This record gives sequence, structure tokens and C-alpha cells, in this order.
Amino acid sequence: MITLFEDFKVKGLRLKNRIVMAPMCQYSSDENGFVKDWHIFHYASRAVGGVGLIILEATSVEPDGRISFNDLGIWSEQHVEGLKRLTSAIHENGSKVAIQLAHAGRKSRTAVLPIAPSVIRFSNSEKYRQPVQMDKNRIDEVADNFSKAAERAVLAGFDAVEIHAAHGYLINEFFSPLTNKRKDEYGGSLENRARFLKEIVQGVKSKMPHDMPLMIRVSADDYYEGGNKVGDVAEILNHISDMIDVVDVSGGGIMPENHVNTFPGYQLDNAAKIKEITGLYTIGGGLITTYPLAEYAVNTKCDLVYFGRQLLREPYWPLKAAKEAGIELEWPFQYERAKF
Ligand SMILES: Cc1cc2nc3c(=O)[nH]c(=O)nc-3n(C[C@H](O)[C@H](O)[C@H](O)COP(=O)(O)O)c2cc1C
Repeated sequence: MITLFEDFKVKGLRLKNRIVMAPMCQYSSDENGFVKDWHIFHYASRAVGGVGLIILEATSVEPDGRISFNDLGIWSEQHVEGLKRLTSAIHENGSKVAIQLAHAGRKSRTAVLPIAPSVIRFSNSEKYRQPVQMDKNRIDEVADNFSKAAERAVLAGFDAVEIHAAHGYLINEFFSPLTNKRKDEYGGSLENRARFLKEIVQGVKSKMPHDMPLMIRVSADDYYEGGNKVGDVAEILNHISDMIDVVDVSGGGIMPENHVNTFPGYQLDNAAKIKEITGLYTIGGGLITTYPLAEYAVNTKCDLVYFGRQLLREPYWPLKAAKEAGIELEWPFQYERAKF
């Protein structure tokens, strides 16, 4: 029987437990995408609270790849210093940290001309503009910007890199038949729809140390008629499974409305299927708030469990859950008197 508080090793990264803080945009940067004090307090608190791995919010590889004007960025050398301050604050408080490298594609609300695999607008809301179709040069440029971002992430002290290929953002737009109508080598078959991701992964990997894990976040289900199902996404991942280490399994976001039935642990079965089909480590979750459900997850469905909103409500939830379960855990010495 595995416990949630058991350590976990993937390549050169050892986590003290299997609790992962899901990436969550804070919309707290400035227009240049720099780290602010908010980010330091917010993430360091979750490290103090006992999270094993923190995944930093979507951090854009291009100014036009941002969801909002207050997203974090990593498109220039100037971003490294603030990110370094952030990784140090997290490390000093006992957690490991991955960065989520992202490009919002047609869902960017900052780009005058958002980019996409095909000219299909996300919605008629004035927040979303009509995208332009990427040509081969633009495809190469974005892939190159992901690899430059990975190089900066290594310099900034991150322990792992996660590529954001979920929630209907640019990479997901290439995967999904709902948003990719291309007739060239990037559209059509699953192999073609996986090509953009494959090129990004190759570039990113070339900039990472050999023993640093590469993770990818996917929407395992588009939750929309005519979209991808978990089997399709697993097949896409099989085209790159020799280059990635962990799949962070989420869902939805490709269309403005999702037809999804949510309940505690609603993404766990997809995490189990991806693990079974690809043989890769997976992170599962979705509305998980309790220790018993998380414990069940790591024993039957996935290797690590992500917590999103629960960690917004309770930054010290891991310490509290261990105490309630009677599991001995090292607490920050400053808080020792609250342990007993
Ligand atoms: C405020 C907020 C911001 C989010 N930002 C991101 C993000 O930057 N990247 C991402 O992959 N998912 C993002 N998500 C989705 C979460 O990572 C997570 O998958 C989702 O909240 C479901 O998990 P939960 O039920 O434990 O909260 C965000 C969710 C919230 C609530």
C-alpha cells in the first residue's frame, strides 16, 4: 500500500510526498510578465504547508502567448532573475518546483493577432479575436521560443519543466480535430496533429539537463462531440513517450462550453487510462479535497495527485491531512507548537 506521504523519484528529482500543487494562474504580474511579491508569498506558503511539488502557473513563452496582461512570462533573459528568487523561496521552504511553459494560441486576450493551427475563433465574445493560421515559419518560431524558455527555466533553478498542452491553448489546438483543420503535415492523422508537440518537446529537451524530468499537461478529453477522447490523447502521447517522464492529466477547455460531469476525482480514470496505455507516470486529480480520496488515487489510479482549489483554500492542507491521519511529518520549526 502506497501512502500519499511516501516519497517519489523520477529521474534526478526526488519529491518528499505525492502531493502536487496544480498550476493556477494568479493574474498578478505586470504587463512585462515579471514575478511580483505576491508570487513569492503565494508559492512559498504552499511550500511551508508541505506540498511535495509545486507547478508554477502558466508562464508564457511569448508576449502574444499570454492569456491575460497579468500572466507571468519567460520570453526574455530579464525574466530569469525574478523566477530565480521564486525558486529559491520555494526550495528554502522544502518543496520542489516545476514551471508550466505555455502559449495561449487563439485564447490569448493580449495578442492583436492571436495564432492558431486554423482560422477558427474561440467564441464571438469580444474578448477573443479571430486568429491567424500559423505558417511553417511561425510554427518553427514558437517551438524555438519554447526551447529558449526551457533554457531560462533551467537557469532560474526549476527542478522540472511542464509543457502546457491542455485546456484548449495552442498545443491542444493542434491536437484537437475541432480546432485543427490543416491539410499539411500538422493536420489530419493523430501522428500529424502530434507533430507540433513533438517538435516542441525535442527542442525543450535539448536544453534540459539529462536527469531533469519533462512533464506534459494534457486535456485527456475535449468533453465535446467530435473532439478527442482519452484513447486519442494517449495515442498522441505515444508519439513522444520516449522523451517525456510524467503526464499531468486534466481535461476540457477547447470549446467555450464543456459537456463534463464533475465530481470528486473526476479526472482520475483518465489518468489511469493514460498510465495504462503509455506506461508513463501520471498526475491525477479534479475536485480532490480529502486525504482518503487522494490515498485511494495513488493506490489505484495515478502516481501523484494534484490539488488546485483546495490549496487555495488551505495552503497548509498537507500538514493538516498528515496530522489528522496520524502520519508523522516534519513541520517547519516555527510551527512545531501547532503540531500537537
Ligand atoms: C484560479 C485558477 C487558475 C488556473 N490556472 C491554470 C494554469 O495556469 N494552468 C493549468 O494547467 N491549469 C490551471 N487551472 C486548472 C487547475 O490546475 C486544476 O486543473 C483545476 O482547478 C482542477 O483541480 P481542482 O479541482 O483540484 O481545483 C487553474 C485553476 C484555477 C482555479
